Amino acid sequence: MKPHLLVARRLFPDLLEPLVAHYALRLHDHDEALSPAALQAQMQGCWGLLGSGSERVDAALLAACPDLRAIALITVGYNNLDVAACRQHGLLLSHAPGVLTEATAEFGLTLLLATARRVGESERFLRAGQWRGWGIDQFAGLPVMGRTLGIVGLGRIGQEVARTAQQGLRMQVLHHSRRPVAGWESGWRSLPDLLAQSDHVMLCVPYSPDTHHLIGAAQLAQMKPSATLINLARGGVVDDRALAQALIRGQIAAAGLDVFEGEPTVCTDLLACDNAVLTPHIASSTLPTRRAMVQCAVDNLLAWARGEPGPTPIPQ
Ligand code: DGY
Repeated sequence: MKPHLLVARRLFPDLLEPLVAHYALRLHDHDEALSPAALQAQMQGCWGLLGSGSERVDAALLAACPDLRAIALITVGYNNLDVAACRQHGLLLSHAPGVLTEATAEFGLTLLLATARRVGESERFLRAGQWRGWGIDQFAGLPVMGRTLGIVGLGRIGQEVARTAQQGLRMQVLHHSRRPVAGWESGWRSLPDLLAQSDHVMLCVPYSPDTHHLIGAAQLAQMKPSATLINLARGGVVDDRALAQALIRGQIAAAGLDVFEGEPTVCTDLLACDNAVLTPHIASSTLPTRRAMVQCAVDNLLAWARGEPGPTPIPQ
């Protein structure tokens, strides 16, 4: 009998086909993530989970799903897994590093430019029929070219953003990361220094208990009033309510956010901020990239079916 595999969201059916030879697929064919209770119910009797960054797997779920042996994620982020508990249960674990680096970095810069140059706000104005004519300071934005970009978290995506910002936008790049990154030593700053010195700040750091609310009221107060904050990382890295207050008070100029605390619900104060560009967690969303993310999880599942280690395990 084939082991059962729960596919926890709608994916590309053609990419799932090779799995059918090895697994009995149980499909949750929707974009809405399973609630914790529904996930637990759907996982009964499942050997594996093909999931994303949305399905919370913790000790309680593992205890309730004793057949679970493997989790393959289509995402690079895996903060939804209690990795220590998964390892205690001896689970095979994989994620999708590398394949979404370029698309995500590209979107980070898109969001930075759109935020600094007030694209969302001015487009809403035009569509609302409010445009009466060209104005000398109409929607005057903040310059990006040649300015200082502070990147928090210089992993794969942070480095890709840094290179493109330096080469394409002639930006000076500062960064803050826990460990020194070879080749980038000179730009390292403490977090308070980075926040105080940057014209634009971009968050590319993984979410963990250590980075929960890394940017809150105190850190926002350290930024320049003319600065922008771009969150490309995870919602919990920013205290969204504190950010909304900082945007309302003009403590910082603008924010570009692709991720939110408690998404898909978005803090209503943020929704009311005209100086925020808000997008629904789409940084990795080009079709080739999204397909490569799914393929990565499929490749791990196929390797496991052959009794081999998967190509992209979650690091120890
Ligand atoms: C990831 O892979 O962690 C991204 O957030 C998905 O777009």
